[in-house]
Order: sequence, then C-alpha cells, then structure tokens
Amino acid sequence: MGLTALRDSRFRLSAEQARDLASTYGTPLYVLDEAHFRGRIARYQAAFQASWPETSLAYASKANSTLAVLRTAWEEGCLIDVASEGELRAALKAGVPALRCHLHGNNKAGTELEFAVSQGIGAIVADNDHEIEVLGALAGKTEILLRLSPGVDPRTHAKISTGQADTKFGFNIADGSAERALRRSIELCLNVVGFHCHVGSQLLDPGAQQAGGELLGRFAAEMKESIGFSAQAINVGGGLGIRYADTDSEPDVEAYCAGIAENVRAGLGASGLTPSLGQEPGRWLIGESGITLYTVGAIKSVPIAENRMRTYVAVDGGLADNPRPALYGARYTVERVGGSSVTERTFTVSGRHCETDLLFPDVLLPDDLAVGDVLQVLCTGAYNASMASNYNRYPRPATAWIRPDGTHALVQRRETYDEMLARESLP
Ligand SMILES: Cc1ncc(COP(=O)(O)O)c(C=O)c1O
Repeated sequence: MGLTALRDSRFRLSAEQARDLASTYGTPLYVLDEAHFRGRIARYQAAFQASWPETSLAYASKANSTLAVLRTAWEEGCLIDVASEGELRAALKAGVPALRCHLHGNNKAGTELEFAVSQGIGAIVADNDHEIEVLGALAGKTEILLRLSPGVDPRTHAKISTGQADTKFGFNIADGSAERALRRSIELCLNVVGFHCHVGSQLLDPGAQQAGGELLGRFAAEMKESIGFSAQAINVGGGLGIRYADTDSEPDVEAYCAGIAENVRAGLGASGLTPSLGQEPGRWLIGESGITLYTVGAIKSVPIAENRMRTYVAVDGGLADNPRPALYGARYTVERVGGSSVTERTFTVSGRHCETDLLFPDVLLPDDLAVGDVLQVLCTGAYNASMASNYNRYPRPATAWIRPDGTHALVQRRETYDEMLARESLP
C-alpha cells in the first residue's frame, strides 16, 4: 500500500471484496461501510462537543435517507434533519422518534406541517411569512427555529449556495425581515427557541460558515437587547466539504468546529446568552463512507483534434444514479478493481444515458482496461442514492451494507421493472 493510500481516509473496497459484491448483487451498486460511517459521526461529535458546552449534532438526511443510514445515525446519537414529509416518514420507519427530528423546507405544504406536528416533531425550522401564519394556527408548543439568511458568499458551486442575500431560503437579516418574523412569531405565541442558517454545501473554505455563525450570534444578541428575546438555540446548518478528488485536501473537522464556535461566541458578545449550538452535516458524515461499483462496457476511441484521440469507457450507470457531475460539474476519484497493469492513461468514463453524460472526464486508469472490468468510484455515499432517478427507465441500483465484522447484506434491493411501471395505467 502506497503512502497516499495510507493517508487517505476515504472508504474503498479491496479488489476481492469488490468482485464479491459485484457478482453477488450486480452493478451498478452502491456500497456503504457501517464502521466508516460510525467513525465519521464519532469524530464530528467529538470535535463539536470540544468546541461548545451544549451541542446538538443532526444528520442531514437529504444526503442519504436509506433506512439503514438513518437508523445508524440515530444510534450514534444524531438528531435527524428532514426536509420533507417523505424524509420524515423514512426516519419514522427507521425507528427514529419524531421528537428527535427537525423539519426544514422553503415551501412546506400545510399537510406536511400538520403531519409533522401530529407526529410530535422535535422542531420546525420556519422559512417564510406564510409559514409563520400557518404555524400560528397549528404548531402549539412545537419548538420553532427561524431560518435566517445571513448574506454571506459561501464560495462554492452556485447551485449549492444558500447563505447569500439573493436566496429563496429564510428571512434576510440585513433588511429587517428576520426581526419582523420574530416579532410576528411572538405575537402568534409560537414557541420560538432560536435561529438557524445554512450557507452552502461542499464548503472547503470555512469562512462563510464562520461568518454566518457570527451574524446569527450578533442577531441573537440584538434581539435580546431590542425586544428581550433570549435565544436558547443557534444552528449553523451543515456544509463541510469532503475529498472527492485526490487533489482535494481533507478539511479538518476539529479546526472547523472550533472556528464556528469562536465566531458564534464573538457574535453573542457580552449579551449573556448561552444558547445550545447545533450543526446538521450530511455529506461529511456519509459521503466518504460510500462507493459505487460499475461494470465497464463499450470502449471506444474517437478523434478530437489533429493527432489527438479520446477514449470513452461506457459503464452500466450514469446520470440516473449519480446526477452530480451533470448538475454541478462534480469530479470523483475512479479506480479499477484489481488487475496488474502498472501504466495508466487518460480515459473519459461515460454513462449509458441519452445525454452526453460524461460521468468522469479525463481520469487516469490502467491502460489495459477492458470490457467486463469493475470500477469503483469513491465518495458516492452522499447525494447519489437520494438523488437517483429512473431516467431512460433504468431501475434504481441496490445498496449493499458492509457490517463492522466484514459481512455484507442488501439494505436496499435493486428496483424491479414491475415496480417502476406500477404507478401507471393507459387512458
Ligand atoms: C438546511 C440544510 N441543512 C443541512 C444540509 C446538509 O448539507 P451538507 O450535506 O453539505 O452537509 C443542507 C444541504 O443542502 C441544507 O439545505
């Protein structure tokens, strides 16, 4: 094993395990490693708890809401952040009590709010004026956090930036919307416990998250001063990035948590407030614990310029099981499973869909790559299974689960064609 592999904390399968799983369950196949996932949660918990007296760590279930993942996160002491009735139902089915969940969403349906309250949801993160009015009629004693937009630039991909002023999420602090929302919530006797923000995802630079935390702290201090409201909770959302490409550096979660805490403290200043501090990462907790296995199909070299060729390697998956490259230009680390070639060359791994779905452009792979080889793609634990679709009528992949003793089981079987067609009828 080389030094790079030793330093690399991302989960990957050995050639033997990968072949075993591919032949047992078929490909494309998502694989999650339980011990790795539990280890990530434990590390985040320890870093976070070292930074603040009272903390609450939630797992953002949008990253991967497979029931086994939700159950494991809860067993490890996480709250579960859900962003829809469907995600709440998944958490309940995984055995998580509603009281341990909190509900997000920038346009929650009345029925979603009613369902959440009827189940005894732990907290609702209110996002807009209309929602505050609806909650006034039905929330009762349910804890409410107000989602605030701190107006910071997260310096990540535009489609996963949420903390800037020009956003559909939350109440703007600078233009007075946040204060008006708080006053109205108090008038309606809502049980507001504090404030929330989430500035963006795949953050490799913690600056925006820290600035967001400081602005939330400052807003809480101002609200104590101006209207006597004492925030009991501040939640700075999720967003810490992971090491998709070999060249990305692994963010240091300890420094990240310490930096956020320092900034929230600075924002609270001499207010005397001692709120609990919440975070709700998804990607950092589950992303590196998962890989996807694909089987290589057609290999084709085409001319792209004078004396230049590109070799396409088509795999038996693509846009439908991993839309992130198409959505965000996301890059991944791709490895062949086993084989003995020592020389590598550049390939473009494409999917099997009717778009030019260049899944993984310009990756180095062994030059004797052949039809039938198996590839493993690292860091697909987050935002792959949860974003999968049936585009081109492909059944969604199965998820295999590696237990801490090395044995494995399916925690989500492959979708069948019958299931895919079951909702439809002819007119
Ligand atoms: C409100 C909220 N919290 C938490 C998260 C989780 O983000 P990440 O998976 O990047 O940690 C998101 C992601 O979009 C979010 O919108």
